[in-house]
Order: sequence, then C-alpha cells, then structure tokens
Amino acid sequence: MGWSVPDWLDTWYLVAGADEVGAAQVLPFQLAGERGVMGRTPQGLAALRSRCPHMGADLGAGWLQGDRFVCPLHGLSFGPDGQCDRRAVEPVRPFPVQEGCGSVFAHPTSPSGPAPRAERWPDLVWAPARAERVELSWQAIVVNAFDMHHLQVVHRRALVREPELVELAPDRLRLSYATRVTGRGLSDRLMQAFVRDHIDIWVTCVGGPVLVVEVDLGRTRTAAMVGLVPDGTGTVFRLAVGVPTGTLAPVGARLARWLYFTFIRRDVPALSGAVLDPASDLPEDLPVQRLVAFLEGRRGL
Ligand code: FES
Ligand SMILES: [Fe+2]
Repeated sequence: MGWSVPDWLDTWYLVAGADEVGAAQVLPFQLAGERGVMGRTPQGLAALRSRCPHMGADLGAGWLQGDRFVCPLHGLSFGPDGQCDRRAVEPVRPFPVQEGCGSVFAHPTSPSGPAPRAERWPDLVWAPARAERVELSWQAIVVNAFDMHHLQVVHRRALVREPELVELAPDRLRLSYATRVTGRGLSDRLMQAFVRDHIDIWVTCVGGPVLVVEVDLGRTRTAAMVGLVPDGTGTVFRLAVGVPTGTLAPVGARLARWLYFTFIRRDVPALSGAVLDPASDLPEDLPVQRLVAFLEGRRGL
C-alpha cells in the first residue's frame, strides 16, 4: 500500500521572497490553482485573487495606487479587503498573507495558526535566495528532510545523537538530531571550519510544504526557511537563510546559501523518479513513518 498526500493542503505556502515585493509594483503568484496578486501597501502586505470581476482582466498586470490594486483595463481599483471602488462591481477575495524570515507566505483559505517562523533564534538576519524549479514532488523533498537513513550515503554525515520527534502543534512536527561531518568535499571541509564537534539540527515541518531548519554549528548558528510550491510535475523551491547579525552578515548569508544549496543538490539525483514508500520497520525509518502519518493527517483543499 502506498501513501498519498494531496499537492494542495489547507496551510501556508511560501510564495515569494520578501525582496521580490517592491514598493509600487504588484507581484503575480499562483496558489492552489488560483492566480493571485500581491503588493506592499502603506499598511503592509496585501494579496487578492487576480481576476478582475468587472470583465476578467488580470490585476497582476496592473499596479498599486496607495493601498489599492488598480486594474490595467478600465482602471477600477480594489482595496486590501477586496472591495471595489465602484459599488456595482463585486469584491474580489483576498488571500491571507504574512511576511517573516525573508519570505512571504500566503494561505489559500483561513489560517488556523501563524505563518512559519524560526523560533529558536529570533535575532537572525534573513536573506532570500532565488526560486528554483526541481523535477521532484514536494512530498519527496519533505520526506527527505526526515530521512535519517540517507545522511551517510548522500550527505556524508554520521548521526551522533538519536533523532527525536515532537509534535509542537497540530500543524508542526519537529525532528531534532546531531551529526558529524565525515565527507571530504569542499563544502564538507568548509562546514568543518565552523563546527566545534558536531552539528545540532532542528527541522520543523510546518503544515506540510514548509520546512524550518535551524542549525547550531558550535561556532555559529544559521537557519533556513524552505518553501515548496507544486508546479505541474515538479516543485518550485524557495530558500531563505538566516545568519547572525553583524558586519559579516552579507558574506555569511552568501556562504550559507551556497552551503545549503550544495547540501540539497546532493539529494536530487538520488531522489529523481523515486516513489517514497516507507514500508520497512527499520529503526532508521521511524522519523519518515512519523512524518508520513503527520502529512496524511493534514487537510487537503
Ligand atoms: S476588467 Fe478590470 S476594470 Fe474592467
Ligand atoms: Fe537529503
């Protein structure tokens, strides 16, 4: 028996890097089969369904005027609550949006909890990376983050503390473990320069398609916000990294991004075409089984 989790769940999705939403422009995005448009208004971020109810033009091709989204076809405008400036025209439905950790999160319905955030170290500075598309399902990527069994083979890391799993909230499952770097590649040796003895890692799956990764290297700490959005047969992968504040933060962020991408790229060849079906009773597979049960309990759309 296989397992299956719908692509679209009733949860937060990471739809943009915080730096993609400019002051006066609007940013189109896609969520759960609908087109959206977001903008940075004087009151903060706002997002609406982007089909104009007047004649169906795309608000994503329009612009912002103060806190109003202006339709590019006849100039009607819609407030952050979706109300049109002309009473006779239907309102559009807003998307809940929240910004944090260098990322913008949108929710397809009504959120039952706050957007994902790094909780251990709220003082990090965050740098978003560009989005990448991978030919893998988001479910496979999330499973991989909980897969203790592949750490040695793919990532050259030895487990030095047994993994622990805690359900922090109905939509948050956290895995923590510790590893030692055993690889000899460039990124492995760079990591070793920051590591005292071992690396403590906390990976929190938030709702399904978002992972918050918090890492204590001994000499420094970093965090990563990983957002996964289904896109046809693949997934749009977004990463933002958090590094300690200070004059070296921009360099640290670039280095952290490179290290995270190098780490993640090692997974892609091994995961291509894999149908992940955790049917074994091996103790190493326990975190994956717990994650799968967690994902199967999430509500689809
Ligand atoms: S189609 Fe948007 S104002 Fe007419
Ligand atoms: Fe991996």
